[in-house]
Amino acid sequence: EATRGLVVAIDGPSGSGKSTIGRHLARHYGLAYLDTGAMYRALAWWALERGLSLADPSPAVVSSVDAAVAELALDLPLEEPLDPDDQAFRVAGTDVTSAIRTSGISTVVSRVATNLAVRAALRDRQRAIIARETTPDGWSSGRGIVAEGRDITTVVAPDATVRVLLVAGEEARLARRAAELFGAADDAAIEATRDQVVRRDADDATVSQFHVAADGVVTLDSSTLTLEETLDAAVAIVERGRP
Ligand code: DC
Repeated sequence: EATRGLVVAIDGPSGSGKSTIGRHLARHYGLAYLDTGAMYRALAWWALERGLSLADPSPAVVSSVDAAVAELALDLPLEEPLDPDDQAFRVAGTDVTSAIRTSGISTVVSRVATNLAVRAALRDRQRAIIARETTPDGWSSGRGIVAEGRDITTVVAPDATVRVLLVAGEEARLARRAAELFGAADDAAIEATRDQVVRRDADDATVSQFHVAADGVVTLDSSTLTLEETLDAAVAIVERGRP
């Protein structure tokens, strides 16, 4: 209804530019910003911190570890940062902002993200945050929120005001990731990045069908666009979709 805040849901693979675009939209419209991938990462960090062997593949260990991670997901001591300009993550008082971006976490996070009980717990938590940020009488302004991840347009917030699937060709995503990791996108940096990006894609594909836009979801392909053009296109999509 009219008093409800704006919800912008953004999904896309790694390297598609989701966080840059999501943070830009949040700033532009004065909305909260929720990085759901960081929640999965924070949970993976917390599970390792609590001594769970996320990398142990032996069947006897796997099911008990998965059950324990699901337990932790129900009570994750994380206060999600919602300011697009201050994305500091703290878990149980420890600043994990850079720890959750390490390759150690990137390697084990899909194990956490493919755990269905974990997904149910984080989905509920994400829905509660979205509800809180869109309720004017809550402690927040209730203006609205940008939430980004892999299943926001389909599972977490299928009724969002605006839903966007961000895609980019593999070469464009490789070049961006290489520039991020190595400060350059020359051939060597791209080759060093290829394995990572291709493997992450394959791992993430087991999480959900996020490469195909669901009904009513607008696809934004940034392959041939500059950052500036992509940001403009994202704002144009929100303008068309909001009341
Ligand atoms: O976007 P990212 O790389 O920070 O995501 C980290 C992991 O979490 C990745 O394996 C995909 C997964 N993820 C998910 O399953 N659902 C989401 N809504 C967000 C991320």
